[in-house]
Amino acid sequence: MKTLKHMFDRNLAWATAIKEKDPEYFSVLAAQQSPEYLWIGCSDSRVPANQIIDLQPGEVFVHRNIANVVVHTDLNCLSVIHFGVEVLKVKHIIVCGHYGCGGVIAAMEDKDHGLIDNWLRHIRDVGRFNASKLEGLTEQEKLNTLCELNVKEQVTNVCNTPVVQKAWSEGQKLSIHGWIYDINNGLLKDLVTYDS
Ligand code: CO
Repeated sequence: MKTLKHMFDRNLAWATAIKEKDPEYFSVLAAQQSPEYLWIGCSDSRVPANQIIDLQPGEVFVHRNIANVVVHTDLNCLSVIHFGVEVLKVKHIIVCGHYGCGGVIAAMEDKDHGLIDNWLRHIRDVGRFNASKLEGLTEQEKLNTLCELNVKEQVTNVCNTPVVQKAWSEGQKLSIHGWIYDINNGLLKDLVTYDS
C-alpha cells in the first residue's frame, strides 16, 4: 500500500517548528480545548476556517459540509452545535458561506447530480422561499444573492435549534453570525447577527 509519505514529512516539520518556538505548545493544548467560536462552513477546500480568521489550533470548533447547510434532522451538525454550546460554551456561532459556492451553483442547475441532489434540495428551498428577491437578476447576481440568502437561512435554522433556544432562555451569552467569504479577494463580509 502506498502511504502519503510527504504528508508525514510536512507534519513532522510543522510540529518541530512549533515546538522550537514554544516547547509547551502541544502539552498545553492537549490538556483542554476552550474555543470561543463555532464555525459552520462549506467543505470547499478554498475556505478553511482557521486560516481565514487567522486563528490557531484550539481557538475554533469547526463543522463543515457542502454549502454550509444547517438541517433540523442532521444529527451530525446538531451534535456539533450541542457540544459547542453546552459543553464548550462557545460565545459565537458563525455560519460562513462563500461566493462561487459549487453547492449553490449545482442547486441552481436544472440537471441530475445524483445522490447530492437530496442535500441540494435544502438550497433549492431557500431559492423558493425567496423567489421574489431573485427575480429579474442576471445569473451571476442570482448566484451571489442565493449564496447570501443561504447563509441567512442557515443562521435562522441555527437560532431555531432547541440547543440555542435553551441557551438563550437560560441567559447564556451566545451570538449567531452570518458571514460570507469572497474567494476572489480573501475577504469576509458580515451579513447578519442575532444575540440572546
Ligand atoms: Co461551497
